[in-house]
Order: sequence, then structure tokens, then C-alpha cells
Amino acid sequence: MITNSSPLLIASKVSKTIDDNTQKNQRAQILNAIDFEAHPNETIAILGRSGSGKSTLLNILAGIVDADEGEVHFYGHKLHELNNKQKTLVRRNHLGYVFQFFNLVPTLTVEENIFLPLELLGKKETNRLQVEQYISELGLSSLRKRFPNQLSGGEQQRVAILRAISHQPQIILADEPTGSLDVDTGNQVADLLFNSVNETSTLIVVTHSEEIAARANSIYELSRGKLHKRIANSL
Ligand SMILES: Nc1ncnc2c1ncn2[C@@H]1O[C@H](COP(=O)(O)OP(=O)(O)OP(=O)(O)O)[C@@H](O)[C@H]1O
Ligand SMILES: [Mg+2]
Repeated sequence: MITNSSPLLIASKVSKTIDDNTQKNQRAQILNAIDFEAHPNETIAILGRSGSGKSTLLNILAGIVDADEGEVHFYGHKLHELNNKQKTLVRRNHLGYVFQFFNLVPTLTVEENIFLPLELLGKKETNRLQVEQYISELGLSSLRKRFPNQLSGGEQQRVAILRAISHQPQIILADEPTGSLDVDTGNQVADLLFNSVNETSTLIVVTHSEEIAARANSIYELSRGKLHKRIANSL
């Protein structure tokens, strides 16, 4: 079981190879024995060139993609020991994931998407006032009855972010969460993500923005399959 001081997420010797489309019958190693920990109250930024494996790493940390080698401990659970149903339950309870391409449920409205995690947990009323305030602050009030295909990219991104934090998860993974937003809205969203971290939770954000990265306690760069810690700001 997880205690106040134990890491919320541990990756140990995580490796992943993929088919290398540039060379026939070759495999490319995009993650090479990655070790990584995320602690309560810690915010972590991961930078890296396009194609370096950032989204793949987040998907492995979330148990959505299996590593070829290595282990991930997610909120005290050894993901490789869980079946798909168990992993889904662990994610439902403890994970908020802002996907790079949003992954909103197309048949649900804006408000249904945002409240979906709370609905699944049977806690819709618990955090309603706070979520309603976020909806208003992010300028989504007039869009709440729309479906995702009736939204701009930036509007979809804001919905995806509120969906990720509505149930106050302990582990927030955000994959380029400001990629489709103007600078002001991006900063507003970054405020929301970083402010949602507390002594029981952690945020890992993949970004191409130095400004967003500078808000994090720790900055890593993913390059040639390795995570390099770039700057160690004080916690
Ligand atoms: N399911 C897959 N099958 C084969 N190759 C894949 C798969 N998913 C990703 N890749 C490849 O793995 C590499 C890393 O992809 P990934 O999406 O993790 O990169 P990224 O760092 O998130 O890039 P970006 O900044 O563009 O989002 C890329 O070369 C990509 O083409
Ligand atoms: Mg990516």
C-alpha cells in the first residue's frame, strides 16, 4: 500500500522497441532501460524531440502500452501483475490522463465528458462545485451541450484537461496539454494542472514549451532512449 512518502509512480529498467520503418526487419529501441520515479507533491516535465518516445513512455507508465522489459509500479500496483480489468480499475481510481490527441468520447457532450470520471466512480456530486467553477473559468460554459466534433482543437483540449483532473487523481499524466492553446489560455491551463498537485498527488507533463517546463520541480529530456535529468529545481 502507498504511504505518504512512497513514490506514486516507479519505472524500473523500462525498455521498448518498435519496428523501424526506415530499415526493413530492423527494430528501433525508443526506450532503453529507463529508471524514473514520481513522488507526492512533485511536478515533472519531460521534453524531447518529436518521435523520441514521450507519448510511448506515458502510455507505458499508465499501463496502456506494455513495456518489452522492466516494471512499472503505479500507485503501489505492479502493472505487469494486473489483468486488463484490474488495470482499468486502477486507472479509473488514480489516474488523470490528458491525451495528446484528447480522446474525448465522441458520443458524450462536453459536460458528460468532463464528469465521466466522477460518474464512473459514483462520486458525481463530490467535486461538482469545483468542476463547475473550472468549466466557467476555462470559458466552456456555453459549450457544455456540444459534442467533441463541434469543438475547436483548443476547446477539446480544455475539456480533456478538466476530464483529467475532475476526480482529483493522484497521478496526472499530461501529453502536450497546451499544444493547441494560445499563450494566455495555455498559461491558464498550466496553472490549473500545476495547482491541482498536492501532497497526495503528482503531475508528469510532456511539453515542447520551455515556459511550461520551467514550472516543474524536475525537468527531464528524453533522447536516444534515455531520460536525462536536466535541471533540478528545489522541491
Ligand atoms: N504503435 C506503434 N507502432 C509502431 N511505431 C510506433 C507506435 N507508436 C509510436 N511509434 C513510433 O515510436 C516513436 C515514438 O513515438 P511517440 O509517439 O512516443 O513520440 P513522441 O516523443 O511522443 O513524439 P511527438 O512529440 O511527435 O508527440 C516514433 O518513431 C513513432 O513513429
Ligand atoms: Mg507524443
